[in-house]
Amino acid sequence: MHPVLESVDLRKGYPSPQGRVEVLRGVDLRVEQAEVVAVLGPSGSGKSTLLHLMAGLDGVDGGEVRWAGVRIDPAAPGLAARRAAHVGLVFQHHYLLSELDVIENVTLPGRIAGRRVDDEGRALLEAMGLADRARATIHALSGGERQRVAVARALVLGPSVVLADEPTGSLDRASAHAVYQVLRTAANARGAAVVIVTHDEALVADADRHVRLDEGRLAVTEPLGAAGA
Ligand SMILES: Nc1ncnc2c1ncn2[C@@H]1O[C@H](COP(=O)(O)OP(=O)(O)OP(=O)(O)O)[C@@H](O)[C@H]1O
Ligand SMILES: [Mg+2]
Repeated sequence: MHPVLESVDLRKGYPSPQGRVEVLRGVDLRVEQAEVVAVLGPSGSGKSTLLHLMAGLDGVDGGEVRWAGVRIDPAAPGLAARRAAHVGLVFQHHYLLSELDVIENVTLPGRIAGRRVDDEGRALLEAMGLADRARATIHALSGGERQRVAVARALVLGPSVVLADEPTGSLDRASAHAVYQVLRTAANARGAAVVIVTHDEALVADADRHVRLDEGRLAVTEPLGAAGA
């Protein structure tokens, strides 16, 4: 069996006034079905870059990203549709649409895919304590509420891969736990491969394993608990 999601010798740099900065210098990461992996690393270490590349949102400089064992090409026609169908993305800046209310944002992937997902959307909102906010406008939400709406939107189609960039960054303990639980449920109940960029120690402890980006590479993978082998 191929891992659901894999990066092989992934390399990425950006131009800067001081010359080219090599952000990822050969990152190997395999994520299996039903696995929750936390990605740690200091600010600027390339965590969001790694997530964007794994989502096929940007081209690599070297190495490759594989979905279910097959190399993806961000420039290929059809990749956006595959991403929409299989990958749930929670961006660090969550990009909710202010013209739509909460439940419309959450169910938007369903409208694009031609599926009715109102029940799923409402269940996700309820699981994260937002049942009574479904008809709120986005600008009326707090930062933490917006973050949870973005998580609901990412999960509403039941993706096989979930990539979440600091999904609990502006949340209190209880709300962060609720977000973690819906991500964990995606892994346990549907076998999703879940990658979470986080600084949240409690979340790191609950993940199956965590990896640390440092100097452009992933430091030793640390299994945690019985599920982390
Ligand atoms: N589009 C871009 N153009 C130029 N430089 C970029 C671009 N995207 C990221 N970088 C640089 O690459 C480095 C890694 O950025 P990235 O956003 O991946 O870090 P991060 O680990 O997610 O940080 P944080 O924890 O603050 O979110 C940073 O130095 C950043 O300035
Ligand atoms: Mg980031």
